[in-house]
Amino acid sequence: ALHAQKKSTIVTDNKITEKVLQDILDQNKHFATQGKVADYIPELGKMSANSIAFSVVDTNGKVISVGDTDKKFTMQSISKIIALMVAVQENGEEAVFKNMGYFGSDKPFNHFGNLEITGKPLNPMMNAGAILTVSMIQGEGETAFQKVLKMVRYITKNESINYNTAVYLSEKETGHRNRGMFYIMKNSGLITGEENQLDNYFKQCSIEVTAEDLAKIGYFFANECVRFDGDATHKNADLSKLIQSQMMVAGMYEFSGEYARRIGLPSKSGVGGGITVSVPGKMGIGVFSAPLDSHGNSVAGYQMIWDFSKRFQLNIF
Ligand code: DON
Repeated sequence: ALHAQKKSTIVTDNKITEKVLQDILDQNKHFATQGKVADYIPELGKMSANSIAFSVVDTNGKVISVGDTDKKFTMQSISKIIALMVAVQENGEEAVFKNMGYFGSDKPFNHFGNLEITGKPLNPMMNAGAILTVSMIQGEGETAFQKVLKMVRYITKNESINYNTAVYLSEKETGHRNRGMFYIMKNSGLITGEENQLDNYFKQCSIEVTAEDLAKIGYFFANECVRFDGDATHKNADLSKLIQSQMMVAGMYEFSGEYARRIGLPSKSGVGGGITVSVPGKMGIGVFSAPLDSHGNSVAGYQMIWDFSKRFQLNIF
């Protein structure tokens, strides 16, 4: 039903300006009323439903943002692409995917998936695979989380980024399904560490960012892991292809297939209301609006991305 309401936008010029973004934001703001702020983690439910932000890092690395650009929200599942990057950098792709698939998702993010059948998570974008991925980042205690946090700070060039303690504790308190997955994988020997590895997953989910930070992350993976300001410390074309392919097939959970049909861009959502989008070889998009659809994706965020991708014909297909 949401799709039927989308009017086509007429392209009059091809310049990405603040005004273009503001128009798209204004036209799609109302969609937020069709969603629901996540409250399965009690602390998340406190997020304002009215805040909305839209940010783009263009092909030149220039950042253009409109709306509530200072509004911070938790990354949630968007942290999974950063953890995947760190785990692969450290261990190599073969080791990371030894006990995990590259499958697309047709199940909700917290579904046990193949865990009880093949013993292996479907992919690193669903919780089971993400928890396994985090457990593969080397180091004691909080080390794995600190590496993920450091990478987020690097990509965004934003040293002030940190995690929200209240959200973290709320996740830890209520994350029994995640705990269940962790122990199934520990039981089968996929995970050898202790529960602090699960805490690292909860902590990375609780990292707070803005839409602008997400646009920079999108740009980074769109451009061979080169930062928006041109810094090439982590340049790795192959790694960026791996991350973007996972975003494409599983980044929007069980909605990924339909999303690929509508928008055709590698994207990753989080239940905090953020979505980060990579336009391969070109730019990054970051959106925020807390109310979610039934799959856990930001309703107004999705609609803004859709309009923007149509307006500038960004669909890779
Ligand atoms: O594992 C969880 O329940 C959350 N902390 C993260 C899930 C998430 O963002 C999935 N969503 N779209």
